[in-house]
Amino acid sequence: MLQTGPAKRAYVETYGCQMNLSDGELMEGLLAARGYEIVRNPEDADVVLVNTCAIREHAETRVLGRVSQLNGLKRENPGLVIGVTGCMAQRLGTTLLEQAPYVDLVMGPDGYRSLPDALERIASRRASRAGTQLAVLELDATENYQGLEQRRAEGPVAWVPVQRGCDHRCTFCIVPYVRGPEKNRDAADVIAEVEGLVAGGVSEVTLLGQTVNSYRSGDTTFPMLLRRIARMPGIRRVRFTSPHPSDVTPELVEVMAEEPAVCEHLHLPAQSGSDRTLKRMLRRYTVAELLQKVALVREAVPDVAISTDIIVAFPGETDAEFRETLDLMRTVRFDEAYTYKYSMRDGTPAARLPAEEFLGADEAQARLAELIAVSRGIAAEINAGEVGRVEEVLIERPGRKEGQLLAHTRRNKVVSFEGDAGRVGEYTRVELCSTSGATFHGVEVTA
Ligand code: SAH
Ligand code: F3S
Repeated sequence: MLQTGPAKRAYVETYGCQMNLSDGELMEGLLAARGYEIVRNPEDADVVLVNTCAIREHAETRVLGRVSQLNGLKRENPGLVIGVTGCMAQRLGTTLLEQAPYVDLVMGPDGYRSLPDALERIASRRASRAGTQLAVLELDATENYQGLEQRRAEGPVAWVPVQRGCDHRCTFCIVPYVRGPEKNRDAADVIAEVEGLVAGGVSEVTLLGQTVNSYRSGDTTFPMLLRRIARMPGIRRVRFTSPHPSDVTPELVEVMAEEPAVCEHLHLPAQSGSDRTLKRMLRRYTVAELLQKVALVREAVPDVAISTDIIVAFPGETDAEFRETLDLMRTVRFDEAYTYKYSMRDGTPAARLPAEEFLGADEAQARLAELIAVSRGIAAEINAGEVGRVEEVLIERPGRKEGQLLAHTRRNKVVSFEGDAGRVGEYTRVELCSTSGATFHGVEVTA
């Protein structure tokens, strides 16, 4: 539909995982296609969308604070439309509309195709002075947003969702309930999209999915898709996240080893180092099986960097089981670990465990602190051992400091170095000169 009058201005603020950031780009694309101007400040917008995460309670509390802050803008500009989208919108639904009467729209992750229409409905209801609050919360077992254009930031790297939703039921996790079952995109559609990205100057793509390596569309399995994308002219780097350890198969590892464009990095979410806890989390692998996957990948891709996700204080986790997680950290020596305290999510199986199994806040915090100390110590040791190496980097953007550039190595390590901002998108070689423990400072090697 053609927009008449001045273009409406929309602002999208996204929280959470890469999939959600990618959804934010999808919403921006849908709105831009309907004539909206996408602005970078909520103050400049007629429509403000807060695209939310529900993975932990903390994420939701932060967003609720932000939404009530945005209500301040609405007091100054009563025409402002405030929408809450994403996983928290799906989880809280109309309760959120009741709690925050200034919110005009709640829309879950399967509703975005109808976002521009929903905003029009709100506008026409307003004109007729009807109640304006609108909820779009249907989960759709087929919606994979095929054929829609994301609006991406300019630059050499892009995320490409290949799968939405999740068929697993890890007992701690809200994702299957707010994003529905696994839905895979057509391989041909994914490939056409990547071709378009390459034409626009992208040379690194990250394939996204909740269990991305269980992707299958027709006869195309994930290793096959990965190989095809890795071989596309113009693609120099391919990453993927997050794989489920159970589907880290010899076929996948073979593609990682054989295809030069597939980066030497694997995110392998372990969650725990205790077999009993893994079983109660319904993770579908044992510690021994996880270690076999690590060995398989390390044998085939000798220099691979491995990162992980770990949850501490899952209900019923004993101190001895927590120590097994620390042992796993020391055995595998992950390059990076994203560490979380278990957060109870209503509606998930773990939320129904006996009340006495839930750990106290102090104990959970102490376990998290100990885990962080161990994982950071290991990462710092690994990174200190990499100082002096010369690595290929892709210059992604200017750094915070004037004259500084930010880049990732193939092994997903962040490096800053001196250089001209006009060089974003170039590949170069950098000597890693020092490390903060987590990131590096380097010097370009020109010879
Ligand atoms: N497969 C998904 C997992 C999404 S959740 C992916 O693409 O990464 C990301 C991480 O959040 C999980 O791996 C887990 O470590 C953590 N997490 C999920 N639910 C949680 C909960 N209830 N409490 C604490 N951490 C949680
Ligand atoms: Fe969540 Fe487990 Fe799926 S962590 S996203 S239910 S694989």
